[in-house]
Amino acid sequence: MRQLIRGRTLSFYADPAETQAAFAYHQDGAVVVQDGKIVAMGDYAALREPGLAEIDHRPNLILPGFIDPHIHFPQVQVIASWGAQLLDWLNTYTFPEEARFGDQGHAPLMAEKFLDLLLSHGTTTAVAFCSVHPQSAEALFSAAEARGMAMIAGKVMMDRNAPESVLDTPQQGYDDSKALIAKWHRRGRQRYAITPRFAITSTPEQLQMAGQLVREHPDCHIQTHLSENRDEIAYTLELYPQARDYLDIYETYGLLSDKLLLGHSIHLEPREIARMAETGARAVFCPTSNLFLGSGLFDAAGLRAAGVVSGIASDVGGGTSYSMLQTLAEGYKVLQLRNQKLHPLAAFHWATRGNALALGMADRIGTLDPGSDADLVVLDSRATPAMALRMDRAETLAEELFVLQILGDDRAIAQTYVAGKPMLGQAA
Ligand code: GUN
Ligand code: ZN
Repeated sequence: MRQLIRGRTLSFYADPAETQAAFAYHQDGAVVVQDGKIVAMGDYAALREPGLAEIDHRPNLILPGFIDPHIHFPQVQVIASWGAQLLDWLNTYTFPEEARFGDQGHAPLMAEKFLDLLLSHGTTTAVAFCSVHPQSAEALFSAAEARGMAMIAGKVMMDRNAPESVLDTPQQGYDDSKALIAKWHRRGRQRYAITPRFAITSTPEQLQMAGQLVREHPDCHIQTHLSENRDEIAYTLELYPQARDYLDIYETYGLLSDKLLLGHSIHLEPREIARMAETGARAVFCPTSNLFLGSGLFDAAGLRAAGVVSGIASDVGGGTSYSMLQTLAEGYKVLQLRNQKLHPLAAFHWATRGNALALGMADRIGTLDPGSDADLVVLDSRATPAMALRMDRAETLAEELFVLQILGDDRAIAQTYVAGKPMLGQAA
């Protein structure tokens, strides 16, 4: 099936933070989609074909679908839990909630809700932590496959410092992860992320097993948490007294590479930053979560200057919004507090091609380049009365993007396409 999707198209081919000529914008643009892939992108006048089916989204913007590189699927009913910082928040709210994913039928139900929420917020790919129960990953992959979505996910490996109901063992965590990799990794658009939750909830024996999985499956992503909160770091270093620093623990067990996604990466030592740059390990900035849990202020400019690649993510349910627009808004404010600037062009690059680069997947997702999967978001910058009023005074594309970044949320998502199929409303 071939069709043309018309609107104001915007796609990045470089980082606007680093170069002037970084994006392609077509005022009357179009994307031609065939069999789930983008086959052409450019001016409508050049792309129209007699007899070709057209969908007209003018005056809305068409961008690559948003990518959320750090989110917790079993925390859909944890989001907005009051009053705690990281370790108390995990013990009080998060671990008890994740235990419910061991109950028959719960994970499949929540997987549908989770994907509905991602799509209604314009997110077409996520990198998700599941619960310790393999059926939670099974449920998420099955639901994502049914919708044609590219999901990267893994069951968390955790064998200590949490209630029994959310613990595995080194061997069980290895076996369950291995079986999920065999079934799901690169099945259609699904990919597996080996997922030791963080050093506090894994014994050295378990991290050893995680390292073995990484050696056996070098093509899988790896996701965990690093240096989010000062109490977390102190406790981690008590548990691993030989470690030079927090990152050294993950390095000792062979987890460091450009496949490793390190959620938060806030309170880093110079040595850790240098090792991340050398090994290609990614930092993932989670601004709504970092503010909500009072964790700290991510140093985007410092990491970039050191040569570390960063993604930007929601971290629901520590994060407070599924919206990558709201994530970019809070990212802007966090960086203001560090006297750094997040330009709207750089922000929209980050949530699309930038996150795809962090995942090593920019040849498939994150741009409107021909050959990419046709995952798109259609943005209405006049979605609310406040946005429309502000837009009356906006003169440039950058100003319009900033209105979306600061005032936008799911109301600004006019449509989301996954592999060329509209996923919202009547059309779904
Ligand atoms: N560190 C370990 N687990 C978690 C989690 O679920 N959320 C956040 N924000 N940090 C973590
Ligand atoms: Zn997290």
